[in-house]
Amino acid sequence: MQQTVNPAVRLSGSIALPGDKSISHRYAMIASLAEGKSTISNYSTGADCHSTLGCVQALGIQVEEEGTTVTIHGQGLHGWKEPAGPLDAGNSGSTIRMMAGLLAAQPFTTKIFGDESLSRRPMGRVIKPLTQMGARFEATSLPDKEGQFPPLTIHGAPLHPIDYTLPVASAQVKTCVLFGGIFAEGETIVREPMQSRDHSELALREFGAELTGRKGVITLQGKPTLTGRELMVPSDLSSAAFFLVAGLLVPGSHLVLRNVGLNPTRSALLDFLVSIGAPIKILKIESTNGEMIGDIEVRHAPVKGGVIEGAMAAALIDEIPVLAVLGAASEQGLVVRDASELRIKETDRIATVADNFARMGIQIEVTPDGMKIPGRQTFKAAAFDSFGDHRIAMAFAVAALRGDGPSTIDNADAASVSFPEFWTILSQAAAQ
Ligand code: S3P
Repeated sequence: MQQTVNPAVRLSGSIALPGDKSISHRYAMIASLAEGKSTISNYSTGADCHSTLGCVQALGIQVEEEGTTVTIHGQGLHGWKEPAGPLDAGNSGSTIRMMAGLLAAQPFTTKIFGDESLSRRPMGRVIKPLTQMGARFEATSLPDKEGQFPPLTIHGAPLHPIDYTLPVASAQVKTCVLFGGIFAEGETIVREPMQSRDHSELALREFGAELTGRKGVITLQGKPTLTGRELMVPSDLSSAAFFLVAGLLVPGSHLVLRNVGLNPTRSALLDFLVSIGAPIKILKIESTNGEMIGDIEVRHAPVKGGVIEGAMAAALIDEIPVLAVLGAASEQGLVVRDASELRIKETDRIATVADNFARMGIQIEVTPDGMKIPGRQTFKAAAFDSFGDHRIAMAFAVAALRGDGPSTIDNADAASVSFPEFWTILSQAAAQ
């Protein structure tokens, strides 16, 4: 699908966003292993989180959906059944990597595959620790890339606990080890080089697991009794990011984003934006199922720009494409370092940002682990391409709001991986 985006005069309104993608995956997976029914409201409408539901159903778990409320009839830790065929993770790295931890402990073999993009994403990072725990994997090789890729065949086995130091800051890998640890007798320990999002730790505790997390060391007691629960998913801060940047970029804008997840391991985005001069306010904060949630207000203002590096690069990794767009309009520009993980996301996001920048006449210097974008650049209308990557589709829709005429985005339907309502909400907020 091709989408046309006109320059916006201003953006305004009070916006409800879909449920957080990371939290939705985790709640669905854990609920499927809990005893009894869980009701999850504001479950992500994104295709990725429906890939997770499809996998759980294929494993014999009853799932009901009514609007954005999902009911999962958990059958306990040993309730999954051998699926009739391969599991489809679609475009979702979270689904394949986190499910791998759970499938590694099953008394059966499972094959799991994904789409073209997922088939090029590295799986060695989960195969290594899960093999140490006792599972056996067959992965696919690629002619042009080193490493292990989907489809994966996972030969489940009784797992033993490990003490694992993550080689890269990755919440998906941390989660896959902890998920394997659910089935291992004793303490599974994960050590993180940098704090990554802690939704799995919060969710496991919420369902009844015993887990401690201190100074980057997470310890889980194996074989917990997980109990079905009522849960509410906060709206997705990474989806909010597109509207935060759009509000900052388009003169006269004033937006309120409602009930957004403000977990401190995700909210580096807000800290960064405020540090470069963005007039962002949190209007109310509360806690639900251990997660922070609140309303965010943003108004248009020029921002300074700055540097994203080190732990900040890891914490902002999903938001960098749209922050790159903001950087080009900022006063001093944006430098991104230590972000080589961008190259192995749904697309190589350093390359796909640079490609779309070239189309709109924006200068960028690409580096192996980041980019340098001069500030105060003029945005021209352009024919963009998402390259099938949801965050690239939405980042360049935001850029198009500042264009000098109508822009188009090819493969715009990619947005529905995390945010199917994006185009409708964008056109409602933009007075053209
Ligand atoms: C996610 C972790 C991050 C992030 C992804 C979602 C998660 O990936 O980029 O969009 O839900 O755990 P990595 O674990 O590869 O850093």
